[in-house]
Amino acid sequence: MFRQIRSDIDTVFENDPAARSRFEVIFTYSGLHALWAHRVAHALFRRGWFTLARIVSQFSRFMTGIEIHPGAKIGQRFFIDHGMGVVIGETCEIGNDVVIYQGVTLGGTGKEKGKRHPTIGNNVVIGSGAKILGSFKVGDNSNIGSNAVVLREVPPNSTVVGNPGRVVKQNGERVGRLNHHQLPDPVIEMFRDLQKQIDGLQAQLDELRQPVSGGEVNK
Ligand SMILES: CC(C)(COP(=O)(O)OP(=O)(O)OC[C@H]1O[C@@H](n2cnc3c(N)ncnc32)[C@H](O)[C@@H]1OP(=O)(O)O)[C@@H](O)C(=O)NCCC(=O)NCCS
Repeated sequence: MFRQIRSDIDTVFENDPAARSRFEVIFTYSGLHALWAHRVAHALFRRGWFTLARIVSQFSRFMTGIEIHPGAKIGQRFFIDHGMGVVIGETCEIGNDVVIYQGVTLGGTGKEKGKRHPTIGNNVVIGSGAKILGSFKVGDNSNIGSNAVVLREVPPNSTVVGNPGRVVKQNGERVGRLNHHQLPDPVIEMFRDLQKQIDGLQAQLDELRQPVSGGEVNK
């Protein structure tokens, strides 16, 4: 348990340059308090103490402004920066080394039953105000921009921005942008089309020139 607490505090120092001392981190980081309360709530939830788990989670929400459903599964080195307004749903699964900022919702669309919240991969950053809604996966090493509204699967190593969220970067390359060295050339397209027609006519001509039965050649 102490190793886990030490790892949680180290995670704050790794992600927040504003963190000064361990004392300050322990007493003033509400994201850390919410995470610790969630561990208690989740343990109660897994043992079937659902109402008690909800009470712990709601008390934590009252104190920190961060609402994590006790059923949510959270990996190692999770960091919630600032935190106010964060909502994490019951069937949400979060991998290792994930960072989220204030106002993030990991929720459902209201149309699904059962698993209805997202699965977040490892090493994902989710910017302030982003909403990720539905039971799909956000791939490893992805960045979700501030205020993005993500409604479908995100491939690994992607950056998603906007509403509705779209992939603008994948594996370090810009996506969906006009590359000036790859502009479509209508003249070349027309020549290709003409060449295709000539090839077709040539094939027909060759067919007509085949010898017919009796040894004569079609003219
Ligand atoms: C998305 C983010 C993580 C950057 O990821 P990245 O992979 O480094 O992406 P880039 O900065 O290269 O941006 C890629 C494109 O998306 C655009 N973009 C970045 N963030 C955006 C956002 N939140 N909304 C809309 N567009 C955004 C960039 O302008 C860029 O567009 P361009 O290709 O036309 O120039 C970062 O912009 C972000 O939103 N971080 C959240 C930080 C936060 O919440 N801080 C709160 C502190 S209190």
